[in-house]
Amino acid sequence: MSQERIYIFDTTLRDGEQVPGCKLNIQEKLRIAKVLEKLGVDVIEAGFPISSPGDFEAIQRISKEIGSTTICGLSRSVKKDIEVAAEALQYAKRPRIHTGIGVSESHMRFKFKASKEQIIERAVAAVKYAKTFVEDVEFYAEDAGRAENEFLAIVVEQAIKAGATVINVPDTTGYCLPEEYQTKFEYLKTQVKGIDKVILSSHCHNDLGMATANSIAAIQGGARQIECTINGMGERAGNTALEEVSMIIKKRFPEVYHTSINSKLLKECSTLVSESMAMPIQANKAIVGSNAFGHSSGIHQDGVIKNRETYEIIDPLEVGVNESKIILTARSGRAAVAYRARALGFELTKEALDKTYQKFIHLADQLKEVNDKDLIQLLDKTRIFNLA
Ligand code: KIV
Ligand code: ZN
Repeated sequence: MSQERIYIFDTTLRDGEQVPGCKLNIQEKLRIAKVLEKLGVDVIEAGFPISSPGDFEAIQRISKEIGSTTICGLSRSVKKDIEVAAEALQYAKRPRIHTGIGVSESHMRFKFKASKEQIIERAVAAVKYAKTFVEDVEFYAEDAGRAENEFLAIVVEQAIKAGATVINVPDTTGYCLPEEYQTKFEYLKTQVKGIDKVILSSHCHNDLGMATANSIAAIQGGARQIECTINGMGERAGNTALEEVSMIIKKRFPEVYHTSINSKLLKECSTLVSESMAMPIQANKAIVGSNAFGHSSGIHQDGVIKNRETYEIIDPLEVGVNESKIILTARSGRAAVAYRARALGFELTKEALDKTYQKFIHLADQLKEVNDKDLIQLLDKTRIFNLA
């Protein structure tokens, strides 16, 4: 069976960078863009050009220095935004303007104070205007997650007629359940004229912790582009994490879908983004957290020491992590102590291990973690080991 391509649209430098305190300077943005290119993303959303002169310049520099990856700039459905986006992208080999407008009841009433007809008019005008600058125009129907499907379908059909090449259906507030979001895509696929001419895109926020699940549901409903960020960076609770969605596709749908992501670079990319944005990664973060391949309970450690696959569904090397970690805590068993001791050059007899373990477990009860130095000291104190 031939696999279908899922395009990866990275918005770390735009939606990701909107996080308070995570602003990047031009050099940092350029460095991340280069690593994203190496990682294999299809689209880099480099920023929101009209938002500041710094962002404009960063997008211009990225456009000049990045090769074949599409470079995208965000705009509202506002003429000046689109003009500035086009100017910032003028050196890009593959420029894309991302323009759109809110389509939910709440956005139309409170943000735009506009009728449905006015929203459609503005959407169409924005896409048409963006088309006068670039061929590749992505339209976002903001807050599509909470919008009525019937109205969403009308706006999307008009945006396609106006020339949009990609249709983004964002769950802006992270509200949808996976099946609702999937149904939205299925509805558009069956109800909108011209839908087969465009790529449908998902853009999920993580307010209820469902961004990744919703992105996968979107693929099952017909989306072929996933918008995401490294480490799930983004407004409020963040966006879909690139490392999660790309590894789900790789591990769970290898015969059906593929992406161009080089998974071995995921950890490097994650560390760079975390350090540049001064945003630490939670230890239990899937794929890139420091505990993602760490094992501390005796039952798990015993299994992993016998065969890694008993408790790991991903080989850490696949995502650029050197090895699985056996972490010694008060929940660890004899197998783990013997394993760590062996790694440090101590081969313990059964008797030596029993004695060492008695001391170890008392020490472990006092510490959060028994590190290599603690273990060596403990082995020295017992004076019953055989030096390998
Ligand atoms: O969350 C959202 O709706 C957005 C759009 C601007 C694409 O970020
Ligand atoms: Zn967003």
